Amino acid sequence: MAITAIRGTFFDFTDDPWKHVGSEHDAARFTLDGLLVIDDGIIVAFGDFDEVAPSYPGLDPTVIADRIIMPGFIDGHIHVPQTRVLGAFGQQLLPWLNDTVFPEEAKYSDRGYAREGSERFFENVLAGGTTTVQAFTTTSPVATEEFFEAASRRNMLVIGGVTGIDQFAPEGTTSTPEQFYADSTAMIEKYHGTGRNLYAITPRFALGATEQLLEACQKLKQEHPDLWVNTHISENPAEIAGVLQAHPDCTDYLGVYEKYDLVGPKFSGGHGIWLSDNEFARMSDSGAAVVFCPCSNLFLGSGVFRLGKATDPDKRVRMSFGTDMGGGNRFSMVSVLDEAYKVGMLGNTLLDGSTNRVTQDLAQSERSKLSPYRAFWSVTLGGAEGLYIDDRVGNFEVGKEADFVALDYTAGPPAMAWHQELFFGDAGPTTMEEAAHALFSIMMVGDDRNVDETWVSGVRLYKKA
Ligand code: GUN
Ligand code: ZN
Repeated sequence: MAITAIRGTFFDFTDDPWKHVGSEHDAARFTLDGLLVIDDGIIVAFGDFDEVAPSYPGLDPTVIADRIIMPGFIDGHIHVPQTRVLGAFGQQLLPWLNDTVFPEEAKYSDRGYAREGSERFFENVLAGGTTTVQAFTTTSPVATEEFFEAASRRNMLVIGGVTGIDQFAPEGTTSTPEQFYADSTAMIEKYHGTGRNLYAITPRFALGATEQLLEACQKLKQEHPDLWVNTHISENPAEIAGVLQAHPDCTDYLGVYEKYDLVGPKFSGGHGIWLSDNEFARMSDSGAAVVFCPCSNLFLGSGVFRLGKATDPDKRVRMSFGTDMGGGNRFSMVSVLDEAYKVGMLGNTLLDGSTNRVTQDLAQSERSKLSPYRAFWSVTLGGAEGLYIDDRVGNFEVGKEADFVALDYTAGPPAMAWHQELFFGDAGPTTMEEAAHALFSIMMVGDDRNVDETWVSGVRLYKKA
């Protein structure tokens, strides 16, 4: 038995705040002086220190003072081999892929390069407080192996897979449907369910896939129904036009993935900016998820995600949030929340009647506002629900895996401590409301400087210098 215990102030969620409009705090749990007890990476007890501690006489907990301890952040959509090329000037999706991304990804067929890239990737991810990623690698199994090996060395829960793309990309970044099927099968055998690794069948996007490649994905999903499916959907107008031209029998983008039986539970479509109401409704009905990637959507000028639409209680779509690094220009999920809030506020204005009284929808407008409850739920328990891993991570429920982050609410710009003092003095937050203020300030004024420690499976893997 390897028991670890953490004493500190905890904040997590037991429900979805969008289900508690007007009383979002009912979805959250604030534990001012809490104790988290971990045995071999699994949470065995959690609650108020005074209630939990007597069951563990002799326990010597690690005290994490003056921090808010939250479940580790979940990045539902990120690209390992873009670690080096984030922040490229001036292009939308398709030329950006051609000029910046594909040449870099081609290098990941080299094992040494792929290993270095994967190590640097996880170093950055952990420094942002992210403990789980659903990641794209490349068409090369070497890149996928190095990704899973790097994750395994850290005992991280990850989802990933060999990228499927057989057109619209240069040689060295594509494969054939047969090769993709063979490589995927080998990687599934080697990694799915080993340690904390999970496998996603990964057609890169419909534009880069021939019918034969999509058929290979369909076959893989039929042979391994428990696998995840990870892809892109409705991101950029030029991309969508190309997809519809290539699939005249489909009325919309989602229809292409539906045609190959890929849409359902454990399906994630990154972006979904231009999804129609009907596509949102079909995703809701099928249990599929959309991944909101605001840093990327703004950086590449792709568009404004309809947050208030995805959260329509009548047709709720599962959702996780993602950096989409290097389409996104940050590794940090805190920065994702910053941009998500702004995208939500744009949606708020577009829907409140101030620009067009005809399209006014006050309920959708309100749902577009990203409160700290909605925000931090989305990158913890909500993100886990989007990826169908909420039975394992996402909050501090007993039985779950102990991945968490300690946030320093006074870090960030020099004025941060002074700013926070406005809400709760210098004693730190002592109520849920004060803690929610602190979290909102972290997402709007701070960034990864607020991440002080990141713990995975009960082991500290990152401590800010
Ligand atoms: N669509 C296909 N490939 C990519 C990618 O690497 N990044 C983004 N943002 N969209 C894509
Ligand atoms: Zn992406």
